[in-house]
Amino acid sequence: MAGNDVAIIVPVFREVGNIRKLVAGLHANLPDIDWEVVFVDDDSDDGTFEEIENLARCDARVRGLLRVHERGLSSAAIAGLLSAKADYLVVMDGDGQHDPAIIPKLLAPLRHAKADITSAARDFSAIANHTLSQRRRTLSLWANRAASLAIGRKLVDPMTGFFAIRSDAFRTIVRDLSDAGFKLLMDILIRSPALRHQEVLFEFKPRETGQSKLDLANAWQFASYLAAHFSGRLVPARFISFLAVGTIGLAVHFSLLYPALALGISFAGAQTIAAVTTTCWNFWLNNLLTFRDRRLTGWKIIPGVLAYLLATSIGIVGNVAVASKIHQDYAAVVSLSALAGITIDTVWKFVVANTLIWRRK
Ligand code: GDD
Ligand code: MN
Repeated sequence: MAGNDVAIIVPVFREVGNIRKLVAGLHANLPDIDWEVVFVDDDSDDGTFEEIENLARCDARVRGLLRVHERGLSSAAIAGLLSAKADYLVVMDGDGQHDPAIIPKLLAPLRHAKADITSAARDFSAIANHTLSQRRRTLSLWANRAASLAIGRKLVDPMTGFFAIRSDAFRTIVRDLSDAGFKLLMDILIRSPALRHQEVLFEFKPRETGQSKLDLANAWQFASYLAAHFSGRLVPARFISFLAVGTIGLAVHFSLLYPALALGISFAGAQTIAAVTTTCWNFWLNNLLTFRDRRLTGWKIIPGVLAYLLATSIGIVGNVAVASKIHQDYAAVVSLSALAGITIDTVWKFVVANTLIWRRK
């Protein structure tokens, strides 16, 4: 069989109860299209992949892609998109919130060469309260404004996870995408302004079953991503996240240091307690936020923390050495020397974190 005309990529994580319904919905809504669906599962523990394989055995339109040791909505979508050989590619959620009836509307402008990429924008004025909480809606509104600013034009819904793209267009731009990308559509629109883009309005539905996987960590990633963008991409998103964690760590450090001193502990002792605890805390936050996609889990956390503590102490030696040298040799003021030392230390820690502790698999 030659390639299908349309490939529908569906990232799924713990969606066992929604797979079958989605496939039925595709069959019902796409009778005149030669399509395939590619479910990309990140090793869910609820039997999602078994369910996909069961369906794939008796339905030639269904295919599964299993990823192990990897997590992330965008990277799952990218893996699925790269595995497809259809001319037209669609990305949608697997939880029933994206109506398959919209797919032909997304494809039409691509087929008529009116656009390279189309997206299904959630019609916020029509979204019912039970679909998105008030808090989530306010968040979405502000995130939308920031995203529109980054993209450079006003969009109804730059954050939607439901879109279609011509496969040759995707192949051309895929290397430009950010590795910490998380809102795939937004990342594509920001990095490839030459693509012709159209929005199609649709009604966002409540989830069928299961739970949303978007959490505070995603919001944090989103903020780091935008900050990196607005820095003209001089500073990588991960480094911004790392700095923000470090800044929170500073507060932790002092809120331990002063009580310890008040308890009568010597300065060196109090400073050691504060520094070690803060380092462990920073490690934990970075594992959760900055390096979420390469997160250490289970027993691997122990050697991770130890290596991080060790590398951090080496960083402090470098910090003091550089600061003292600048202070003596260049007769620089104390604050400038200290700042130079701290900068060296921070960059060193980030390099260790990025290449050693949370290295790419
Ligand atoms: N493979 C894989 N890996 N799939 C994932 C992961 C992951 O780490 N995280 C989420 N998914 C899958 C879910 O199983 C679901 O099929 C889809 O991605 C969307 O995830 P939800 O957890 O349902 O997200 P949501 O409904 O809260 O968010 C939706 O709206 C956002 C805008 O506010 C999604 O459409 C997002 O893409 C969109 O940006
Ligand atoms: Mn959802």
